[in-house]
Amino acid sequence: MPPRKIIIDTDPGQDDAVAILLALASPEDLEVLGITCVAGNVPLPLTTRNARIVCELAGKPDTRIFAGCDRPSGRDLVTAEHVHGKTGLDGPVLPDPTMLLQDQHAVDFIIETLRAQPEKSVTLCPLGPLTNIATALQRAPDIAPRIAEIVLMGGAYFEVGNITPTAEFNIYVDPEAAKIVFDCGAPIVVLPLDVTHKALVTPSRNQAFRDIGTRVGTAVAQMTDFFERFDIQKYGSEGAPLHDPCVTAYLLAPHLFSGRHINVEIETDSALCRGMTVADWWRVTDREANALFLGDIDAEHFFKLLTERLARL
Ligand code: RIB
Ligand code: CA
Repeated sequence: MPPRKIIIDTDPGQDDAVAILLALASPEDLEVLGITCVAGNVPLPLTTRNARIVCELAGKPDTRIFAGCDRPSGRDLVTAEHVHGKTGLDGPVLPDPTMLLQDQHAVDFIIETLRAQPEKSVTLCPLGPLTNIATALQRAPDIAPRIAEIVLMGGAYFEVGNITPTAEFNIYVDPEAAKIVFDCGAPIVVLPLDVTHKALVTPSRNQAFRDIGTRVGTAVAQMTDFFERFDIQKYGSEGAPLHDPCVTAYLLAPHLFSGRHINVEIETDSALCRGMTVADWWRVTDREANALFLGDIDAEHFFKLLTERLARL
């Protein structure tokens, strides 16, 4: 079976970094055609810098990295330095990147790649606000039926919000973009907070990262040590929720997850509930199902997979 072709769209962020490392550690399963950066956790110049730092940490300086949109189309950018720190990758001390960004804009790369690759052969893996993906869909509607699957981290139902009482950050930052993506007709798999809040880096799991004994293992442990402060303080949780690596893990081991194929709409008008993913989990409406909305994860085997793969780098 040839590796699955993916484009990772990301706003690194420590959890994005771990998701990227897991993908780059799995070349027999995943062919990373490119990494497209978007503004989110931190502004675009930092997300592109962090993506390059992570690819060099992985020993993959030939990875193609593209700069994308630096803000939502119709709203001010909201960032999350309170969670990820000023650089967006606080925790480990890592060398400045030397690899270069690609010249092409991320949106043009997404469009060009989907048109050039065989139909339904490329999976989009958004880990941040959906601005790049929505911009590509608006500029080139013909790409929607060519997408194999969109496997994204975002939204919440039972967990409700993490940036507001009702909204998860990635959706909240650019709800209009999220609406475009959820309405585009491509198969969508959602890794919401309902799943990612069950993927917590407990002290023993963090120690397992350190015990790998490599630069990558130590850096990941330091990233999650930093990143966990916000969630421990807010939720009293046992450690950092590894949001974005759940996307990569789903691609590698979908059997570790479960959920329902349901309708998911995005609230874009309400100031109070902006960015809420209105998931019809109980199927109380006749709205058409448009997403596989995941609700559970086998966390033990997720961390086993993640730790084993990180040890390869
Ligand atoms: O709400 C969690 C999501 O927002 C994650 O993708 C994190 O990296 C931030 O982008
Ligand atoms: Ca992210």
